Formats: sequence, structure tokens, C-alpha cells
Amino acid sequence: MAIFNVGPLPGQERFGAVITDLPPASIDEPETRKALHDLWIDKGVIVFRDIAGGMDTQIRLSEIFGAPEIHPMMVGTSIKTEHKALAPIEYDRESGNLYEVKGRQLGGYLPWHFDAAYVDRINHGGILRPQILPRSGGETGFLDQIAAYELLPRRLRERIEGLSVLYAYQPDLTKPKFGDRADRIIQMSELFRKGMDHPSVQVRAIHPLIYRQAVTGRKVLHVSPWFAEAIEGMENAEGDALLREVIGYVLRPELMYFHRWEAGDMVLWDNWRMLHSACGVPPEEKRIMRRTTIVGDYGLGRREVKPERSPAR
Ligand SMILES: [Fe+2]
Repeated sequence: MAIFNVGPLPGQERFGAVITDLPPASIDEPETRKALHDLWIDKGVIVFRDIAGGMDTQIRLSEIFGAPEIHPMMVGTSIKTEHKALAPIEYDRESGNLYEVKGRQLGGYLPWHFDAAYVDRINHGGILRPQILPRSGGETGFLDQIAAYELLPRRLRERIEGLSVLYAYQPDLTKPKFGDRADRIIQMSELFRKGMDHPSVQVRAIHPLIYRQAVTGRKVLHVSPWFAEAIEGMENAEGDALLREVIGYVLRPELMYFHRWEAGDMVLWDNWRMLHSACGVPPEEKRIMRRTTIVGDYGLGRREVKPERSPAR
């Protein structure tokens, strides 16, 4: 019995799936829940097209994959949405993040990353839903790091096995050391500014560069270019050159999918495996999205422990 229709992502056969004809009433059926969960682990990103029910469906769908979590960057702020499980992903000219990137002004631009790299416990993913879409731009990029590992040259696979990466929160998008970055900051949002004072980001986090997906045993090339500072134990030119070379292999077009949003879409992703990015919108456009955050911990993150300095005598 077909529970829903599954097809490939447009233009991308290495990962991802598109689901159509999923009636919200079937979300509570055990058979549907298991099929959706298995597909999420297998494919990494799922686009739900033309799904009914809005916020209620978004939250009930998210609960299949894990308990909802209040987004860590919202804790202790006055930022609120319609529901505590929903975090705002918003750009408007008055209060959003606005940058100049490669000569163009882009609102809500975000370079490639996985969420929460700068803390030790990484959430398992989320579901994004649009409320107000721009007339142009606003695509969300997804990049598969299982496929990235499979395509990495053997020489590099062997070189980085067992290495880990140091991460730190970096709200200024002109500053990332690795991957894409903006050329000039025009305006920073409150959410990003307040993030700098958040207690959880005062100590660097450390995550392995390669790990195995628990359920399938597939290896994941696990690096978030945004937030990465260095290879642990190699904070020098040699380590930076190695990390830059690896990231150069990750950020290639054949590993990417860019979702062009339509009303009625929702997109679910696995944050332990996928990178994502936001292409941004022209400065006068408005883009209002809501996301859930799926609680989780893959158990391999650490906080940096610096050796204590002996007291001066
Ligand atoms: Fe993100």
C-alpha cells in the first residue's frame, strides 16, 4: 500500500527525496511514521510539496523525528513566534541581516554550515516552512556530506581520518576563515548580535572530521565551513591548508541542491549529515520562514578544555 509518493530531487540523484500526496491525517499512523523516519536517515533531506495544515502539520511532522527543542539562540532573548517550537528565520529591510556578497546586496544570506557546530551537542535537524516568500531569490541550499566523503580522494580520506575541527560562533559573515564569506556588512539582526553574548558560545566546540552514521555505517565528511577555526592540534598554516583543501572538495556543485520555495512546501533535513545555506534575497524583498528544531545528540562533540595556567607566585 502506497503511503505517499516519493520521487527524486530535481537535478540531484545522489541524495534527497520529494514527497507528494501525504495527507496530514496519516502523520499519526505508525507505518507512515516509520517510512518517513527511514527515508530521512537514508536520503538526508526531504521536500514535502503542497502539504496541507501549515504550522500544525509542521510541528506534528517534526515530532516523528524527535522531540522539539527551543532553538538555543532564542533562549534568554525576547524573540517570540506563534509557537514555542518555532524559531523565526526572517529577513526584512528594517531588521534583517544584510550583506554585500560578490558585489550584490543580499538579505538573509548564510554561507554553508551545519547548525550548532559551535556547541558540543548538535541538534538532529529541523523542518522549514515559508510564511512570506520573496518575489525572487531566497533559495535554500543543501549539500550531502555522505556523498562528499565518497567523492573525496583516497589520499585526503587517509590524511584526515581521526582528526577533529575546532568551531566558534561567528555572527559576522565577513569573518569566516573557510568557505564562502560576505565582502561587507550592512546590517546585523538582533538574533545574530545577541548570539555573541550567549553563554554556550564562549568556549570552542570540537567535532570529528569523519564519523559513521550510526544506523547505516556510512561515513560522513563532517565539516561546517562557517564556524570552523582550525584542525585540533594543528592550529598552524599546515593544518589550515589541509582543512581548506578538504572544504574545497566539499563545496562542489554536484553535491548541492538548491530548493526554490513555493507556498505549501516544507523541507526536512538531517543536520548530522547535511550542510545548508541561504542564497539571500534582494534588499527590498521580505522573506519570513519558520523552522522547528529536532532535539538530539550524536554524542561525538566536545567542548575545548584549555590547560589551566599555574598561578603566578
Ligand atoms: Fe542553519
